[in-house]
Amino acid sequence: MILNSEQPIGFMDSGLGGISVLREAVRLMPEEDFIYIGDSAHAPYGTRPREEIRALTYAVVEQLLDRGIKGLAVACNTATGAAVASLRQRYPQLPLVGIEPAIKPAVESGEGGRILVMATPMTIRQEKFGRLLARYQDQAEIIPIPCEGLMEFVEAGTLKGEQLDAYLERVVGPYLNDRTESIVLGCTHYPFLRRELRAFLKDRKVALIDGSFGTARELKRRLSVAGLLRNGHKGTVTIENTSEDPELIRRSYELLNMDLD
Ligand code: DGL
Repeated sequence: MILNSEQPIGFMDSGLGGISVLREAVRLMPEEDFIYIGDSAHAPYGTRPREEIRALTYAVVEQLLDRGIKGLAVACNTATGAAVASLRQRYPQLPLVGIEPAIKPAVESGEGGRILVMATPMTIRQEKFGRLLARYQDQAEIIPIPCEGLMEFVEAGTLKGEQLDAYLERVVGPYLNDRTESIVLGCTHYPFLRRELRAFLKDRKVALIDGSFGTARELKRRLSVAGLLRNGHKGTVTIENTSEDPELIRRSYELLNMDLD
């Protein structure tokens, strides 16, 4: 694998969620070209068995490698848990980052109160998540909430409304109390729901924390260490999707450019 700074950076996710990480990367590295592949044809990943998630992730990563990428962001917590360790072994020279629920920053910025972690059922079931939880469990009251069916709202372009509100009320509502100090958005689709989450939380002082900026910063660091950052070029963003639905591509660019909370 011969890499040079003029090659694009690859991004993947099970669908549109990874665009929340891509946005941060584009802001941090405006001189880079990016290729994003969303695997909406096979979404959701988060309710599938680990082996299936791994095979789907490999398939998308191979498409990106065929396009000659110089670095890779697995912008999906679920795919990271299932496949990043083996991807690192398979492609040792490739600068590669994954994303995991931002429990560490939530614990470090908090005061030992309650931290809710919203993520897919598969992310929460993985050993990697168990280890992350074990590391911080004595410093805060950390409660994982499997959010089956939530990424589907973002895929469908539903970022607000009664149905979404009813979902949050039913799934997250029962865990909110006066000690709740933050909610970790442990799936890359969820930052697009920040506004609705804010409205749902009303005047509670609860921080919404996600790992998208940290992941983009780590990607930049790895590319820099490898001498692969690009300069003096107007960067581009190309978004593709495994689904045939052209609406998904339109929605993807909308998410790339929209204002979040
Ligand atoms: N965006 C993905 C994540 O960060 C998961 C959504 C899914 O496919 O279930 O976990």
